[in-house]
Amino acid sequence: MSVHDPRALRNAFGSFMTGVTVVTAVSKTGEKVGFTANSFTSVSMDPPLLLVCPANKLSSFAVFEQCEHFAVSVLAEDQQHVSNTFAGAQGDRFAQVDWFDDEFNTPLISGAVAHFSCSAFDKIPAGDHLMLVGKVERFESNEKFGLGYAKSGYFSLGMEHKAEDVAHEKCAQVGALIETNDRLLVEKTDQGYRLPVMDITTDKGSRASLESLMKGLGGEFEIGQVFSVYEKASTENFIAFYRVDRMTEQVPAGYEYLPLSSLNEVSFISSDLTSMVKRFVTEKQNGVFRLYFGNELEGEVR
Ligand SMILES: Cc1cc2nc3c(=O)[nH]c(=O)nc-3n(C[C@H](O)[C@H](O)[C@H](O)COP(=O)(O)O)c2cc1C
Repeated sequence: MSVHDPRALRNAFGSFMTGVTVVTAVSKTGEKVGFTANSFTSVSMDPPLLLVCPANKLSSFAVFEQCEHFAVSVLAEDQQHVSNTFAGAQGDRFAQVDWFDDEFNTPLISGAVAHFSCSAFDKIPAGDHLMLVGKVERFESNEKFGLGYAKSGYFSLGMEHKAEDVAHEKCAQVGALIETNDRLLVEKTDQGYRLPVMDITTDKGSRASLESLMKGLGGEFEIGQVFSVYEKASTENFIAFYRVDRMTEQVPAGYEYLPLSSLNEVSFISSDLTSMVKRFVTEKQNGVFRLYFGNELEGEVR
């Protein structure tokens, strides 16, 4: 891809998942300024340095170019509105969020995951941005989950952790979407196809049980992320499905491989399996897997 295609380059840069910060400073005349930034990077422990990159075109650029102090607030997963405010809102952005002053009178965003109060350590012009290196003078952080950003969209890890916890502690069954060379391992029954599933018998949780299921099927495998965690109304128990890559062509007894391209026409034994496999095929095509958390009928996909 040519570097002269700015949209393609922006998309490629945007494939790197980041957190979201708000960078703030105060002008010489006392005006508070701030912008949303995901160019935040930790740089050095000794001295403690961090980096953010304000664009030359920011209305507040001159303030950051001349600042002696600035601050970085790492946004929490429930602060998408703060990110949007500092990425676009006109007028007084600070009137739209809660904030407080640090000891250098630089505003910090309330409710953030971490705050860094910095003195300006270095300012390096770099193309259409400035590399603004700050020496951390004060910082604080807490246990909240941060807001994530990738491919022009926000994400959060809170639900993923909740689903992992349920998958680990509460699931009565574990199942697998086992893939080898664009084919899915399924089992044919008189009522339709089904996926490999087993009851969780150990107290070690779903992943350990899945390991033993996979060992029983033989061959080399790699267990991936949880793909779906939901409560089955019939049993009132949770079931967790993981993605698994199987590096072995050999077909275990009683199973068969079906090409992913044929799966939308295949009839599974229950509607939850049909819709889950459909989503698996779509997301495989798109190259981005998400997590479903809910019950058989409705839930959240992230
Ligand atoms: C998630 C996200 C990350 C951003 N990261 C940066 C960044 O690192 N540097 C930057 O200059 N602008 C970044 N922006 C864009 C600025 O936030 C936006 O251009 C700015 O708030 C506009 O402010 P202005 O109207 O005062 O010029 C980002 C926007 C979003 C939504």
